[in-house]
Amino acid sequence: PTISAISVPFDLGAGRRGASKGPKTILQAGLLRGLQQMGITAEHTGEIRLPDDQAAPLAAEVNHTNLKYLAEVVEVNTRLAKEVSRVVQQGHFPLILGGDHSIAIGTIAGLSEHYTNLGVIWIDAHSDLNTAETSPSGNIHGMSLAVSLGMGHPLLTEIQHKQPKIKPENIVLIGSRSLDEGEKKLIRSLGIKCFTMYDIDRKGMAHVMQEAIDYISAKTDGVHLSYDVDSLDPLEAPGTGTTVKGGLHFREAHLAVEMLAEAGIVTSAEFVEVNPLLDDNNKTSHLAVGLISSLLGKQIL
Ligand code: ARG
Ligand code: MN
Ligand code: MN
Ligand code: MN
Repeated sequence: PTISAISVPFDLGAGRRGASKGPKTILQAGLLRGLQQMGITAEHTGEIRLPDDQAAPLAAEVNHTNLKYLAEVVEVNTRLAKEVSRVVQQGHFPLILGGDHSIAIGTIAGLSEHYTNLGVIWIDAHSDLNTAETSPSGNIHGMSLAVSLGMGHPLLTEIQHKQPKIKPENIVLIGSRSLDEGEKKLIRSLGIKCFTMYDIDRKGMAHVMQEAIDYISAKTDGVHLSYDVDSLDPLEAPGTGTTVKGGLHFREAHLAVEMLAEAGIVTSAEFVEVNPLLDDNNKTSHLAVGLISSLLGKQIL
């Protein structure tokens, strides 16, 4: 199908600013041109509008919580959900360019209108399964997967009404290596499939991806790929706000998306947490372009 890229220049879900500049640098790194050269029809639907001062009354109402920028996160994700839903309705493939990972709330909310068993492959150093109670930071980008499961502030979980958006058994985490205590408990109690860096080292990325693909494709009617670039080792992806050493190598990161392309199961994707202010010569933006191209079918030969 036609690829519809949606820019979300938003970073208030993160602890540091700069991921708002991610979509522009990813596009400037040649994303659309590259896809078109592959014979893919790709368009840019535009940028999700950022909150203005009208978010203030809502902010005043909710600022007793420890959720940072809750009103702004709600506003942007409400708009994103509508845009994602529209793109799916149109029969196009939504490709969301972040922005911090809090935007997965809106992406998944919009997708969930169209799928009864949406699968989510979450490639990330983190699991983003915190709630206000377990979060060490109050940063909502560390809570987006929990919100999609229906856990968290009602203003977040009730975006696009349907709640919860996804089921724990339809999620696969890949690349995990920095999990907070509450997140570990939740992964165990909900039985969420989790391939940590240990599993990748022990079994190899090819084995892990095959298991992940078999697990998720058996029971879902669509698969969303949520790709946080901090899943990569900081040596490969320095331009991101919450680096954790011991991450995916360049080749493992590409193999994962190449195998997803080969399996043909992915129906939407988002690439998040590219922070050009922390980057080295836009290395991380170029990396994101390479990963997206591979996901959409680019092959070496
Ligand atoms: N677990 C930490 C927190 O809740 C870090 C989350 C980082 N999330 C991300 N999307 N980069 O604050
Ligand atoms: Mn069309
Ligand atoms: Mn994340
Ligand atoms: Mn992360």
